[in-house]
Amino acid sequence: MVGGFVRGRRLGVPPGKGVRPTQDRIREALFSILGDTVEGSIVLDAFAGSGALGIEALSRGAERAVFCDEKHECVHAIRENLRKCELDGRAVVFRTRLPEGLARIREALAEPCDLVFLDPPYGAEGKERILEGLHRFALLKERARIVFEHAQKDAFACVPAGFVVEGERRYGNTLLTFLNYQPGEERETMGGKGKAKIENCVIYPGSFDPITYGHVNIVKRALKIFDRIIVAVAINTTKSGTFSVEERVGMMQEVFKGEPDVEVDSFSGLLVDYVRTRQAQAILRGIRTVTDFDYEFQMALANKSLDPNVEQVYMMTEGKYLYHSSSIIKEIVSLGGAVGEMLPPAVEKKLSEKLKV
Ligand code: PNS
Repeated sequence: MVGGFVRGRRLGVPPGKGVRPTQDRIREALFSILGDTVEGSIVLDAFAGSGALGIEALSRGAERAVFCDEKHECVHAIRENLRKCELDGRAVVFRTRLPEGLARIREALAEPCDLVFLDPPYGAEGKERILEGLHRFALLKERARIVFEHAQKDAFACVPAGFVVEGERRYGNTLLTFLNYQPGEERETMGGKGKAKIENCVIYPGSFDPITYGHVNIVKRALKIFDRIIVAVAINTTKSGTFSVEERVGMMQEVFKGEPDVEVDSFSGLLVDYVRTRQAQAILRGIRTVTDFDYEFQMALANKSLDPNVEQVYMMTEGKYLYHSSSIIKEIVSLGGAVGEMLPPAVEKKLSEKLKV
């Protein structure tokens, strides 16, 4: 530790190449910028690793700290370090992935945070989603400060609504971005170039194993209604598909590469949690047959009971896609039949290779 009452104590670092502890000199510079605002604050140390940033904050007078990391070994190291510094009474440690775990973290906190450290692995995508999640789950007090540690090349192109960039500091390859949470402010791009419009966004979830023209048709028609569509592959740990989630996402990115308002993503856990995290207005699903309707109706009721605020929108398939199901298409391909009218060419090629036709 570089400051406060546990100054001079060495913390244990969890094993593993994914862990990148903030260097002492960067930590020192960071806390001198934060100054006495740390005192009495509620702190969230996300992607905590060894927990060094949150522990430093506690050492310098923060009232409470919440730590989270998705790795077992990090959670173990944080608990051990807190115990060593006799700070375990002022801290909570979660093993969770972000942004998915934000709702759970908020439930455990008596009040929102004043200071958040975000130190995701370099090159990791989705920092905007984490900020959106912090806002969505009311994890921040007004004027809360957020410190992002990232690589120079990962600087923000645009910050989400409600966040204002206060400043940046460079230390070698490391970039610290200081953000301030001002939810009443108008959304502005970082360069001040115009205002971003308020969007209505819908999540189109599914297995997409693989994506068919039937799915593409739903997306194209939904674009007439929604500003933005997030086509999201559900990660199902109990069911191994024909294609891996990465392969499905890759094919869909290829299919929608000319559609700037379509984003391809994947999610694990409950769909309703993902919808909240992405601040979407609704879930979109396509319906082909009465059998689909039964299945969709059950899912709709389950989702509604999990989150009464979630809305679900259904679009009927166009007649020519009525019998286009990923499983029927896979059977046709495996038996050497033609599916050119059912699958985008890149997907058809990948499926033939996969089924070795
Ligand atoms: O394309 P599919 O297989 O019909 O899609 C089903 C999907 C992914 C939408 C559904 O299984 C889902 O929502 N999974 C996420 C887990 C979840 O939230 N389950 C509870 C509600 S059914």
